[in-house]
Amino acid sequence: MLKIGNLELESNVLCAPLAGISDSSYRILCRKYGAKFTFIEMINARAISYKSKKTKKMLETDPKDSPIGIQILGAELPYLLKALDIIKPYDFDLLDFNAACPVRKVCRRQEGAALMKDPKKLQKILKGIVQHWGKPVTIKIRSGWDQDNRNAVLVGQLAQEAGIAALFIHGRDKHQLYKGGVDYSIIADVKKALSIPVIASGDIWNAVLAKKMFDETGCDGILVARGALGNPWIFKELEAYLKNRPLPPLPSTEEVIKAFHQHLELSIQEHGEDNGAALMRKYVGWYFKSRHCVRVLRQKANGLKTRNDFLALFDLALQIS
Ligand SMILES: Cc1cc2nc3c(=O)[nH]c(=O)nc-3n(C[C@H](O)[C@H](O)[C@H](O)COP(=O)(O)O)c2cc1C
Repeated sequence: MLKIGNLELESNVLCAPLAGISDSSYRILCRKYGAKFTFIEMINARAISYKSKKTKKMLETDPKDSPIGIQILGAELPYLLKALDIIKPYDFDLLDFNAACPVRKVCRRQEGAALMKDPKKLQKILKGIVQHWGKPVTIKIRSGWDQDNRNAVLVGQLAQEAGIAALFIHGRDKHQLYKGGVDYSIIADVKKALSIPVIASGDIWNAVLAKKMFDETGCDGILVARGALGNPWIFKELEAYLKNRPLPPLPSTEEVIKAFHQHLELSIQEHGEDNGAALMRKYVGWYFKSRHCVRVLRQKANGLKTRNDFLALFDLALQIS
């Protein structure tokens, strides 16, 4: 169990926010296979305040998809507070503020990970958000801006002073993007320096690496990010391993196809057949990863336009696996 402010979560293994991935279909699929907490895709505060149709759709969640967090991005308090007023009626259980996004366009606007270069400004923003929101606010940070400026401990302390209820930390700096080693020691330092829960992220690919994260950092929880792509079984695997229970067997090709098919149907339901199918192409490589049929299937991914194209691909996967 993990307690964030007054929010009690059933598990300390959380499904990470993933821009371009964690739409409703992805979240519901992960829940079917064991995820207990999900995030909607990160939204820019400015986009929320423009109330576009696309943003409104992102804010609408299935009642089954609960408890759930929203993550917002921004650097200007007036826009952020306006965004909070708009999202209040949607009843998210947790609000996370993103100070971790490394995308150049984002950092150029001094948002995301760029805020780690100005911890005092970040603290001021957080104070404003915490005062305005009234429910648990968290922050997601990186280890720092670059190798020479890994200031996560200072940022974490200032964020805690601002009143946040928990801190998420991806143990890589902004310049590492998603590559290179995870800095376990800085996560451990952040954990030691703070009294609020610290939830760690980085290279949670399997149960062994999840345990390593807990053991080496003392963190209170972990975020499963790329490790869940095409692998929703990871949530049960981690729960079992962390509770010293026998690991569930690896999924067969039939089981992989069943999950992929469920995900496809959810995506079509959410986005319509054209867009829903197109969004699922990138999952071919992920679902069939490390199976010998993957090369052939991946070559066909770009041509998949309809539900029937995917069904034919599943038949082919069965034939050649
Ligand atoms: C495609 C992609 C999209 C991501 N989008 C977000 C996001 O919107 N918000 C966020 O806080 N982190 C985002 N992340 C970072 C992940 O949540 C996670 O912290 C990171 O991938 C490290 O974990 P991993 O090494 O286990 O994948 C994203 C990562 C990837 C690969």
